[in-house]
Amino acid sequence: MDPVVISGTGLYRPPHVITNAELVASFNRYVELQNAAHAAEIAAGTRAALVPSSVEFIEKASGIKQRYVIDKEGVLDPTRMRPRFAPRRDDELSLMAEIALDAGRKALAAARLEAHEIDAVYCAAANMQRAYPAMACEIQAALGTGGYAFDMNVACSSATFAIEQAANAVRAGGARRVLVVDPEVTSAHLEWRDRDCHFIFGDVCTAVVVEAAAGARADERWEILGTRLVTQYSNNIRNNAGFLNRCEDTDPDARDKTFMQEGRKVFKEVVPLAAAHIEQHLHALGLEPTQVRRYWLHQANLGMNQLIVKRLVGREVGDDLAPVILGEYANTASAGSIIAFHHHRADLKAGDLGVICSFGAGYSVGSVVVRKM
Ligand code: COA
Repeated sequence: MDPVVISGTGLYRPPHVITNAELVASFNRYVELQNAAHAAEIAAGTRAALVPSSVEFIEKASGIKQRYVIDKEGVLDPTRMRPRFAPRRDDELSLMAEIALDAGRKALAAARLEAHEIDAVYCAAANMQRAYPAMACEIQAALGTGGYAFDMNVACSSATFAIEQAANAVRAGGARRVLVVDPEVTSAHLEWRDRDCHFIFGDVCTAVVVEAAAGARADERWEILGTRLVTQYSNNIRNNAGFLNRCEDTDPDARDKTFMQEGRKVFKEVVPLAAAHIEQHLHALGLEPTQVRRYWLHQANLGMNQLIVKRLVGREVGDDLAPVILGEYANTASAGSIIAFHHHRADLKAGDLGVICSFGAGYSVGSVVVRKM
């Protein structure tokens, strides 16, 4: 069978940075304002006072130092605490499509392809900004690609799950070349008012071209040796926003309508799940974890990534084996492992092996084993 390759990646990085210091200053101002507004209830013991956040905790607990966002002012406004996006008319390009176009065009350029040579677009992300028409159809039209397009959501594993669908479509002949885009406007579903998680996410969009090696023109190609996906139901990462909300007469701004997690449980449960998944996947391909030159892992927590790789190779590892982009980008949902792959692969040589692996809500774990051609 003709090998299937990743022949190009693209990255859209939003224009604004929020450092932990800026984030914590605005959060702590929000806490002061809330506590002042509810001083009587707090004094009466009928309401708990909000507690300030800290830069030291964020860096130590997560490894995150800053995040990129599409809108900074709205997020840092202590009387708002969410991005401000101007509504767009139906005949204007949607926000998610706009950032997907940027990353998608860069991936096509890297793969040395014209848009019309792509015959499938998968928009794979943790949230879609509307139910229909599919974001992917809008992106397909704006890019000028042919064939078909659809949206898919497996939260933080959306990108790797989409790469498997793309590789299968190319192998089965359903598409010759697939563009996977992962527009993650995480700032819109993060609860910036919740101290436990307000530091976690950043906005970004990644894109990946998957095609048959025979038709690929890119100088740099990564053969997909195998993909493997697994899901295991858990409520520990959850977001209840959805189209039934208005029929349930629930508050669209209630806490459960944005990202919620039991971070400690996620850490404990997902580390063994992801490490075993990668090991089994490699073994099924006749490979040992120690043969892998680089792990491009999902980026949610520095400690989590270090622990997963330590379980795999039996020793402490540094950035060279498992590069971390969390410090700069924070958690970017499905895009994290693709950002790591995008930024940290140029030094690998032909024949080197790598693993792109995502893990997150679902739970879901997806791995893509690649070899540089
Ligand atoms: N500033 C200061 N202190 C904070 C804080 C903040 N912003 N948020 C929580 N704390 C405090 C807590 O109140 C708690 O204090 P206590 O021990 O006195 O009760 C302490 O820090 C530890 O809180 P905990 O929530 O247990 O922190 P943690 O070490 O588990 O780190 C995460 C939190 C979210 C960074 C970490 O659990 C994580 O990354 N988990 C994996 C998440 C993941 O992969 N999610 C997938 C999302 S796609």
